[in-house]
Amino acid sequence: MCGIIGYVGSGRQPAQEVLLDGLERLEYRGYDSAGIAVANSTLDVHKRSGELSALENSLADREFNGAVGIGHTRWSTHGSPSHENAHPHTDCEGRVAVVHNGIISNADALRAELVEAGHRFESETDTEVVPHLMRVFLDDGAEPEAAFERALDRLEGSYAIAAVVADSDAIYASRRQSPLVVGLGEKERYLASDVPAFIEHTDRVIYLEDGQFVRLTPGNVAVTDGNGSLVDPTVESIDWDPADVGKSGYDHYMLKEIYEQPRAVRQCTRGRVTEMAGSLELSELPASVRSGTDRVQLVGCGTSFYAMQYGASLLCEHGIPAQPFVASEYDADSIPIEPDTLVVAVTQSGETADTLGALRAANRAGATTLAVTNVVGSSAARECDAAVYIRAGPEISVAATKSFASQQVTLAMIASVLAERQSQPFLGALRDLPSRIQHVLDTSSARHVAEEIVDADAYFFVGRRYQYPVALEGALKMKEITYEHAEGFAAGELKHGPLALVTPRTPVVALVTGSEDVVDRTLGTVREVEARGAPVVAVTTSSAPVEPVADYVLEVPETHRHLVPILTNVQLQLLAYWTADLLGRPIDKPRNLAKSVTVE
Ligand code: F6R
Repeated sequence: MCGIIGYVGSGRQPAQEVLLDGLERLEYRGYDSAGIAVANSTLDVHKRSGELSALENSLADREFNGAVGIGHTRWSTHGSPSHENAHPHTDCEGRVAVVHNGIISNADALRAELVEAGHRFESETDTEVVPHLMRVFLDDGAEPEAAFERALDRLEGSYAIAAVVADSDAIYASRRQSPLVVGLGEKERYLASDVPAFIEHTDRVIYLEDGQFVRLTPGNVAVTDGNGSLVDPTVESIDWDPADVGKSGYDHYMLKEIYEQPRAVRQCTRGRVTEMAGSLELSELPASVRSGTDRVQLVGCGTSFYAMQYGASLLCEHGIPAQPFVASEYDADSIPIEPDTLVVAVTQSGETADTLGALRAANRAGATTLAVTNVVGSSAARECDAAVYIRAGPEISVAATKSFASQQVTLAMIASVLAERQSQPFLGALRDLPSRIQHVLDTSSARHVAEEIVDADAYFFVGRRYQYPVALEGALKMKEITYEHAEGFAAGELKHGPLALVTPRTPVVALVTGSEDVVDRTLGTVREVEARGAPVVAVTTSSAPVEPVADYVLEVPETHRHLVPILTNVQLQLLAYWTADLLGRPIDKPRNLAKSVTVE
């Protein structure tokens, strides 16, 4: 949901180049428009509607002179994705430029006040009030830093904001409920919504806290709290490989990330499942959580919600009552939270506004809270009592893939630890999971199946038990990147209504795995759709007798029953990917979407 980049250097590299490179790494956060502002004695501001390439092309023969600048890639909230609404926004004379991620909820009132005072606005955005406010305070004689802080004092809502001022070699920035991280180089400072934007330059970072201000100059990072007192920030090291944020020869980040799953899962279990698969240790889970948890509530959105549904069914099977909630529907006031209730926020970005809202409500209600997230230092990680990292590495594709697998693995481990059940077959299967996923990747015929079903009217996905959330996730992936109608159902539900939609032009992807009884009942559903002429794609292990009823089979290796859904999901990811590829869709940047939705 909008990406911000900032750079202050001492001349080693032009700001423009660093900003454009950084924006390329942040484009997953939005791609409606993009722009940069480079500060020198004046401000050079340049922006374009459309994807970043439009901005890059328009700057091909121009280089702005300056070693200080900010940039932005936008996912529209206030105002259409037009040139005028692209960031950076400036005051009337172009002395101040501002980029912003979030929503300023009192922007209309501030705008009315500024218009009354003679300010002229050029965009429909909430952001534009900020440079105008700063200008008011600068004209009052305030120094840029004070003008920035006084302007932000007037704002309500959520934001990560960065500003540059003509004739100043500094960037001024602050955050409230939207992410912002500082990167420390040699006489160079970076600022971004997310680490991939500058990971090729430095791995030393400072995660800003809500309400903090930062003034970045080439040689200094001055962090202050809301009272103006200097803060000594914690510098952390990121252990991501810069190569992780490129496409490494794949046509799309999504395909690269699908193929990275064996490595992601290996990282996720490293040091947690011991070499000989003898035991499982999650040192991040405090003893109070391990022994004091009698029931679990899980909150999350989208793909993370489906991972949670899978996690909840494992917890229940282990005897711990667990309830998954769509975060935007979670109401801690009306859902009973007992002293022994653990609330788990599952969020790969750690910044999803709906999930943070639910988490804050749970914190207020006195629950013990746990974050399951990919991002060290993210809001979810900081605001929970404890955090378990999924260690998937950077995920750039808007459609989540490896983070889902890593969430599943992490939740399966948490369920096992909370239940104090460390079955040797499960631990052995966890250790072998990367090679099982690799086998699926090496042998999948999903591309061929996609060629056969690509001109369908709609796609249905069905599964039972732990495969039900995978069916939902498979349908979400398909609709996100193909723009075709796709729905997931509990296999048993099809006959209660959705069967009316089934025709010879609606392939049904059936997840046929599990115990004999579950397989038999799922095959019953398959026969119902087969009788209506629907092509059937069975995703299954070799032991299930699907041949007589399936038109196409996507096989996965046998493994522990709790981990089979991770393998079947890989086949669904590939099916969605190849279908979208055949349809020529912009796979990494699906229309209207952005990774990390930081507004409610
Ligand atoms: C879909 C997808 C989204 C996210 C959702 C929550 O491919 O990625 O559905 O899962 O927006 O995001 P996080 O996990 O960052 O809270």
